[in-house]
Amino acid sequence: MCGIMGCVGKPDAREIILNGLARQEYRGYDSAGIALRCPDGVRNIKIVGRVSELAKLIEERAAECDGAASGIGHTRWATHGGVTVTNAHPHESSDGMITLVHNGIIENAREIRADLEAKGITFVTETDTESPCQLLANIYDGDALAAMSALCNSLTGAFALVIMFRDRPGEIWCARKGSPLVVATADGASYCASDPTALLEYTHDLFFMEEGEIALLSVDGCRFFSFDGERAGKEPIRLNWDSVMADKGQFEHFMRKEIEEQPDVLRLTIDSYTAVTSVDMEKSLKLPDGLMKRIRRVQLVACGTSHYATLAAKDIIESLDDSLDIRVEVASEYRYRNIPGGGDTLAVFVSQSGETADTLAAARLARAKGSHCVAITNVRGSTIDREVEHTLLSLAGPEIGVAATKTFTAQIALLALLALHLTKERGVLSARDEARLIGGMRLLPAQMQSLLEREPEIKALAEKYSGSKGYFFIGRRECVPLTMEGALKLKEIAYLPSEAYAAGEMKHGPIAMLDEKLAVVALVPEGDLREKTLSNVEECRARNAPIILLVTEGDAEAREFASDVVFIPRTERELFSFVGVIPLQLFAYHTAKTLGRDIDMPRNLAKSVTVE
Ligand code: G6P
Repeated sequence: MCGIMGCVGKPDAREIILNGLARQEYRGYDSAGIALRCPDGVRNIKIVGRVSELAKLIEERAAECDGAASGIGHTRWATHGGVTVTNAHPHESSDGMITLVHNGIIENAREIRADLEAKGITFVTETDTESPCQLLANIYDGDALAAMSALCNSLTGAFALVIMFRDRPGEIWCARKGSPLVVATADGASYCASDPTALLEYTHDLFFMEEGEIALLSVDGCRFFSFDGERAGKEPIRLNWDSVMADKGQFEHFMRKEIEEQPDVLRLTIDSYTAVTSVDMEKSLKLPDGLMKRIRRVQLVACGTSHYATLAAKDIIESLDDSLDIRVEVASEYRYRNIPGGGDTLAVFVSQSGETADTLAAARLARAKGSHCVAITNVRGSTIDREVEHTLLSLAGPEIGVAATKTFTAQIALLALLALHLTKERGVLSARDEARLIGGMRLLPAQMQSLLEREPEIKALAEKYSGSKGYFFIGRRECVPLTMEGALKLKEIAYLPSEAYAAGEMKHGPIAMLDEKLAVVALVPEGDLREKTLSNVEECRARNAPIILLVTEGDAEAREFASDVVFIPRTERELFSFVGVIPLQLFAYHTAKTLGRDIDMPRNLAKSVTVE
């Protein structure tokens, strides 16, 4: 929810921290701040607004910041306390001993505050973060490790904390519980960040902090301790992402670049998990022998766009095997319900970031129930990767735009291949279906590319309908998850009311809303449900709603039913999501652009939601 960057041991610490904050700005962007350890003391500069504005201010005050070889910075996504300069991080203790940044939520902040106020300490912010800051200053008596231990053991909630002590130049202290933090050492300097992409310019060997871990960063490297102060050994994880993968390149927005990358992501996923005409997942997913045959229940659990990827996967699995009880659940619900588990349950947790608090909690619950758990994540070394026994890595590369795009297609690809693997091991997948679906998947990158090339058409549609008071996305069966994703994209980046409905449900209420200002986007690929869906489209047209139809190439008759038509390449029925999503992503992108929205950093949203 917030982005943290710290550096110790570099004469250009200021630029390094600003650069790291800019790379992580998608994590939080209502305010930003940086505290630099200058020869005459700590200089703390904060603003309400973007990192670029912070950089400008620091540039103006460059003379004051000269000689700083270490510092900590933060981009905020407000949870406790309004968006003000005072509430922005870094925070300082009243005595000036502690400077601290925080990501997460301190649940016992109020109690700590009341105790310290009773001792005469004056709080100046409305944040939960000031509590650990003042508390640490209150505890510290010269022994930093003991003070860190005491602090961490007295906090409840979630935190990644990064701290400078006034009397300990050359040191940065970190602690993690619940919120991600990654640290590294390279060329005589040490770094920390919320997101690994911020560190890739300096090294690919990263230490992902564990739950309940403290780290001391200095020019001599990183040292790790438990919350009880015991020294802990730790090996770095090598992350093979390229730092240019996290650059916008020629594109105006990360989101647009990431939409464009989808054919390559799909190609890589297919090449990595298949042989010529068969699925090949055994090397990557080492589940106990014979397990797939014993599985009776499959649970697919995720949040947001990842949840819609799991809905698409459900359709694929059940089309291949009707003997499984398949449940798709949003993680925030799964974790609080009494959902069955055990040795006959395969629970799959899907999270782009691998850090979503609800998904992690759901995975812990399933593990406790004895279910066989698999994580699908885009980030090697993320919490879910480390906590869940088996991980399948989606190969999308870093995704920076807050609205997920390429990771959605990468997730469905991986889930589709997992569906083939599962049903093959269970002995229910015919060789014909296997070859048909893998053959169909191999055609997808070129088909997706052909849709990307039709961007001007979609852009014109987005502009034409951008004055609508809202949108309905409708479709049946394999199209339903896509209607949800199409509607979500418009909400996220264009802030427009948009609803998704199984087409057959429209007449049970929503149709009452329709008039000429409410656009209906209908997904009607060829196949057994085409006629039925078109009847539902007719019902909407009869209420004067403008209709945008997505139909299979060659379906000329569809024009009769619509104000506008987008033709989609023909795919295997189960694979429609891969092509259908491209016009929906482009439609949302261009609608948001027409309305002048902040596409990569939409208001009120954060890419990685590390709180409940
Ligand atoms: C946030 C993001 C969404 C994302 C969801 C789940 O809400 O803005 O784009 O789909 O979290 O994230 P995850 O990392 O678990 O896939």
